Amino acid sequence: MSQEKKYLTTASGAPVGDNQNSITAGHRGPTLIQDVHLLEKLAHFNRERVPERVVHAKGAGAHGYFEVTNDVSKYTKADFLSEVGKKTPMFIRFSTVAGELGSADTVRDPRGFAVKFYTDEGNYDLVGNNTPVFFIRDAIKFPDFIHTQKRNPQTHLKDKNAVWDFWSLSPESLHQITILHSDRGIPATLRHQNGYGSHTFKWVNKDGEAFYVKYHFKTDQGIKNLDPKVADELAGTNPDYHTEDLFNAIEEGNYPSWTLKVQIMPEADAQNYRYDPFDVTKVWPHEDYPLVEVGKMVLDRNPENYFAEVEQAAFSPGHFVPGIEASPDKMLQGRLFAYSDAHRYRIGANHESLPINRAKSPVNNYQRDGFMSHDGNGGSAPNYEPNSFSDAPKETPENKISPYEVSGFADSVPYDQDDHYSQPRALFRDVMNDEERERLIQNFADHMSAVTREGIVDRQLENFYKVAPELAEGVAAKLGVEVPASVKE
Ligand code: NDP
Ligand code: HEM
Repeated sequence: MSQEKKYLTTASGAPVGDNQNSITAGHRGPTLIQDVHLLEKLAHFNRERVPERVVHAKGAGAHGYFEVTNDVSKYTKADFLSEVGKKTPMFIRFSTVAGELGSADTVRDPRGFAVKFYTDEGNYDLVGNNTPVFFIRDAIKFPDFIHTQKRNPQTHLKDKNAVWDFWSLSPESLHQITILHSDRGIPATLRHQNGYGSHTFKWVNKDGEAFYVKYHFKTDQGIKNLDPKVADELAGTNPDYHTEDLFNAIEEGNYPSWTLKVQIMPEADAQNYRYDPFDVTKVWPHEDYPLVEVGKMVLDRNPENYFAEVEQAAFSPGHFVPGIEASPDKMLQGRLFAYSDAHRYRIGANHESLPINRAKSPVNNYQRDGFMSHDGNGGSAPNYEPNSFSDAPKETPENKISPYEVSGFADSVPYDQDDHYSQPRALFRDVMNDEERERLIQNFADHMSAVTREGIVDRQLENFYKVAPELAEGVAAKLGVEVPASVKE
């Protein structure tokens, strides 16, 4: 058959004779089961969806590269950061958190900022948000927290009583909800926002010295946000506004970029730092640890196929490369399990070999088989270790983690520090200007006005009062209620 003109085939490659009329018994039917092309079309269509991500379901992705612009090799031996000018291909997926796959882009919600670096030593994933902190600081609270962000089990409606019930009983959320209800809670586009690794990670250099780091991707486009009324309108008229903007910008050659900076804390400082450095509800004030430039990330290529590249992308905070390790942060530790577990459920045990996820460096191990094993499955090479084959993959002791000391009793222990207030206070009083403070108060009041269950608003006003009395009084005035007297005593 001529290959000059592409011809239509079944999934098994046989040419299709008719793709418009099913095979029927006579002109009026019925349809014959003999039409295997029809059966295949209907059956495959029924299987088009994989489960959407349980959080961050709505997203947009892009390819690009990361280029080192400053020598940080004294802090980390990570090969992709080893010399100025080194370029590494990467893929990013931006997302909202709470909405479903088809939900609107312009809602008030943190934005996911998940980056996959295809390094020469395997994939390094930095799965962050556009906020430097998070709502909670122990993984054990995550499923409960997300239930309050999703739909009510009876009404299937979004439930602001649940949201504020949980937040008001979890004062560690105050920092993140202050950022969320500030202007930055609704970015103008995905290009006009910063990204943060949020957690503290560990960098290790060639001499085995360890440093704790926090990542900041600063947008080179400048910060721009949406007016909430405009955002509400856009949610109705163009729910894919952010997705469209990113795609069009890249298509037009208007490549967005971010400058990656890090804060670096010598390992020994962690013992006595004024904040728990592993508490993801806290930042490290810049005056303590200034930003050090690392490089530039540029997005210059749109995905060719949304499902193959964006929906099947599997980012995991557990994907590290030598020179970058986890910190003891209890949230991060929970995430090290959760993501690859989600990927095995969502896209299968062999998701790492899908083209978007496959490392560009060699992958050699003794894992085998499972659904959809399609990359040769290790061929005839041995599938066990220890073995006596000289050419079989061997561990490399120089890539063991950097050892760190732990002590104490195994127990369910709360964090030592309960200061949920000083950092949101610094943001409210020292960073925001009068107009920003006023809009923050309005945004809180607009969201809380839908709270009807008794006690929740009072409890939240008490929390706000501990951040700043004028914040609590401002929100209370807009809601037409009083700050409870008990908190003022
Ligand atoms: P600085 O004055 O040195 O920095 C203030 C920071 O706040 C800048 O990084 C700025 O980002 C960021 N910012 C400004 N407006 C908002 C907003 N509405 N939501 C989130 N971030 C915003 O202050 P400190 O380092 O002493 O920190 C003071 C407070 O600033 C912190 O308590 C925290 O709430 C907030 N912050 C601090 C960060 C940190 O890593 N230290 C990071 C982000 C926020 P940009 O420079 O891009 O405009
Ligand atoms: C997505 C769990 C905290 C950022 C996800 C997914 C799960 C999950 C299961 C879906 C993964 C998939 O199906 O591909 C958790 C748990 C957390 C937690 C258990 C706390 C213990 C955080 C924090 C951040 C974050 C603190 C940011 C700092 C993201 C992002 C995505 C995501 C960006 C989307 C990744 C993508 O684009 O594919 N999370 N998460 N999460 N999470 Fe978390």
